[in-house]
Amino acid sequence: MYRKCVVCGKRASIVIERARVGFCEEHFIEYYERIIKRTLKRNGFSGGRVLVAVSGGKDSMALLYALNKLKDDLGIEIMALHIDLGIDNYSIESRRAVEKLLKELDIKYIIVSVKDYLGVSIPEAVKFVRKPPCSVCGLVKRWIMNKVAYENNYDYIATGHNLDDVSTYFLKAMFTYRYEDIVRGNEVISPPKPELKMVGRLRPQIFLTEKENLFYCEVNGVPYVDLECPLSRGALLKKYKTLWETALKLNPMSQYNFTRSILSIKKKIQQEEIEIKPCKICGFPTTASDGVCSFCKLREKIKIMKKNK
Ligand code: AMP
Ligand code: FES
Ligand code: ZN
Ligand code: ZN
Repeated sequence: MYRKCVVCGKRASIVIERARVGFCEEHFIEYYERIIKRTLKRNGFSGGRVLVAVSGGKDSMALLYALNKLKDDLGIEIMALHIDLGIDNYSIESRRAVEKLLKELDIKYIIVSVKDYLGVSIPEAVKFVRKPPCSVCGLVKRWIMNKVAYENNYDYIATGHNLDDVSTYFLKAMFTYRYEDIVRGNEVISPPKPELKMVGRLRPQIFLTEKENLFYCEVNGVPYVDLECPLSRGALLKKYKTLWETALKLNPMSQYNFTRSILSIKKKIQQEEIEIKPCKICGFPTTASDGVCSFCKLREKIKIMKKNK
């Protein structure tokens, strides 16, 4: 099935099941970059200063490579940000891969450590709280990304969220009745709100799968780490992800259509105005009713628990 490239007729190196087409390497690259540009432009993106958050994994490494290549087309100026989470070998290898790509591409970058902001690394932080590691890590990363981007005058932060991630996020939100997660999160573009010290967000790979990001890295010789974060083992989101295997067998477009449907519904529903205000401690945006953001709460809690140890 689809053994030939739909563009040139050469032997296909990858099959995109949901589009029922095959591509040779050269035409896959064209397809991939076209999707990135189309995703951004159809959602009204018109350029700006973009801080690309790179973890070292295949998704964000592919994103950095593609945005760097398309920067003139998209009217963007980019810089990369890597956050060292302090998770043993996983963080050491991730940082190494990121530095390798940054040097190869000669991109401006900043590398920061969680410890510099939080006082402890992620593995230490998760010992102090009764939340799943990925949720602690996620809130810390989001706060650091926003702060670094804001202080360096970036309009947007671009992240490597892919179709598998976003579709599963929505699915889990439905299955667990956390519908407010659907209302709030994961748009292709969230515009910047400088008056609230809130940098915008770009998710250019929302319509590209893990498989496509991996293949894009491989055909372009982009290095990436293929390690699983030791703290995320058994994470619930990963279990929900496996549900797509059955759905995709039944209908190869199910994941894509599901995600597109939710994004379209999101555009149509009237968003409740959630009050965003500056955190009383750090000054960055929060929706917390007591006016203290989750990052500051975590940092204070860790400080107190360390003192009492
Ligand atoms: P995750 O939250 O791990 O699913 O990652 C989602 C996206 O956040 C990645 O695709 C990256 O763009 C970004 N990201 C994750 N971890 C890091 C990190 N350590 N440093 C910089 N960006 C990251
Ligand atoms: Fe954040 Fe593993 S990368 S918990
Ligand atoms: Zn071809
Ligand atoms: Zn705060």
